[in-house]
Amino acid sequence: MSQGLVTAAYIVAAICFIFSLAGLSKQETAKQGCYSGIVGMAIALFATIFSETVSGLGWIILAMIVGAAVGIHKAKKVEMTEMPELIALLHSFVGLAAVLVGFNSFIDAGDVSAEMHTIHLVEVFLGVFIGAVTFTGSVVAFGKLNGKIASKPLQLPHKHKLNAAALLVSFILLLCFVSADGSWFALLVMTVIALAFGWHLVASIGGADMPVVVSMLNSYSGWAAAAAGFMLSNDLLIVTGALVGSSGAILSYIMCQAMNRSFISVIAGGFGSGDAASSSVSEEVGEYREVQAAEVAAMLKDASSVIITPGYGMAVAQAQYPVAEITDLLRKNGTEVRFGIHPVAGRLPGHMNVLLAEAKVPYDIVLEMDEINDDFAETDVVLVIGANDTVNPAAQTDPNSPIAGMPVLEVWKAKEVVVFKRSMNTGYAGVQNPLFFNENSVMCFGDAKAKVDEILAELKK
Ligand code: TAP
Repeated sequence: MSQGLVTAAYIVAAICFIFSLAGLSKQETAKQGCYSGIVGMAIALFATIFSETVSGLGWIILAMIVGAAVGIHKAKKVEMTEMPELIALLHSFVGLAAVLVGFNSFIDAGDVSAEMHTIHLVEVFLGVFIGAVTFTGSVVAFGKLNGKIASKPLQLPHKHKLNAAALLVSFILLLCFVSADGSWFALLVMTVIALAFGWHLVASIGGADMPVVVSMLNSYSGWAAAAAGFMLSNDLLIVTGALVGSSGAILSYIMCQAMNRSFISVIAGGFGSGDAASSSVSEEVGEYREVQAAEVAAMLKDASSVIITPGYGMAVAQAQYPVAEITDLLRKNGTEVRFGIHPVAGRLPGHMNVLLAEAKVPYDIVLEMDEINDDFAETDVVLVIGANDTVNPAAQTDPNSPIAGMPVLEVWKAKEVVVFKRSMNTGYAGVQNPLFFNENSVMCFGDAKAKVDEILAELKK
């Protein structure tokens, strides 16, 4: 394939990726967005593999077969709730790839023209640095998300000074690397520092900020890919990396706003998170009332307006299907049923939207927190299905709470609130929820799917 044709294919692929991002930003068009991405990636792979400059086709195809087999196996096996850890692991591969491309580019530097040599060295150094930070940062995020590493923030003494020193020493090594016309010593020492820096950066971030970390690492992996694109002189990799990098950064910013966290403090490794986050309170603060499924069904029959606020527990229990059936049944009986979705409900951005779409809940009754928060006061019954932190009033009332200041769904303003969970255990942030002890709250204990199934059976009677 001639270079002109490859460039044309790259432009088409880049346009597909832009359409993909545009499609993914709305629930109604998310599927088309996925298809655009798949088409773009297929064009990109085809053009790259069959371009004049590529040799060793057999090896590439072998690697693709192995990669595709592992990918398909993993994609079929992974549970929706394990997606964030899988994404973190995939980001680590992008980081590692950027490091390896960087080393390879340095070894092959002979091919670069004399006037481009210094620029190439800077590209190699920065690419390896970003890649190494992304690699270890993502490995720690993976460990924290699947519980292999404690989610508590690592509090090394002078941690911000250590971060600043790592950046400063890396910058000095960059100057040495360029002035020595490329030095393995400077490159390897920087790689070790960057690996430690990435590890420390994410280890210092508390569990409650992990949603932002995952999208931030998504952004880093984009910049690592863009850096690899510069090293390989591949325009499409630069464009794609920049798209991923900037969309990840925008998402991180939006999520910081949703959780009332400072963007700078999260990306600087928990700067400013200190005492509040460590003072988690998990003891119970009063008495709670328990209800059975039949009573909840009776409440629902009498209600004229219902809001359902799902959370991580709905995902674990896979309760979205009976929830969708209850919604359908109540709507047929003339009850107004809507869903209130918190931006960080579940364990990944858009988690609840995906589950509800899967269960064919109509998009127009699934509302964002800002769209529905004012309506709770006029609502008869709220069903909190496996949500905890995202409906915790302590975020507004307790300045010492680890989630203080995080905007939450104000479910407690409704006439009656039914909370579905298995025990009085805390949610992800490890804080007790005063909502459970309110006079207008009742607890429906048990697996969310089993309980919702029971309610559905009662409603059908
Ligand atoms: P959480 O606060 O995590 O609470 C989930 C609740 O579901 C728990 O209290 C648990 O109580 C209950 N539960 C678990 N399994 C259940 C089952 N099978 N049946 C019934 N209930 C079950 O959930 P949330 O309100 O969705 O908040 C999300 C939290 O995760 C936030 O703190 C957020 O910052 C964090 N986070 C979010 C993301 C993204 S991007 N969304 C990523 C990482 C972390 P029991 O154990 O008593 O059943």
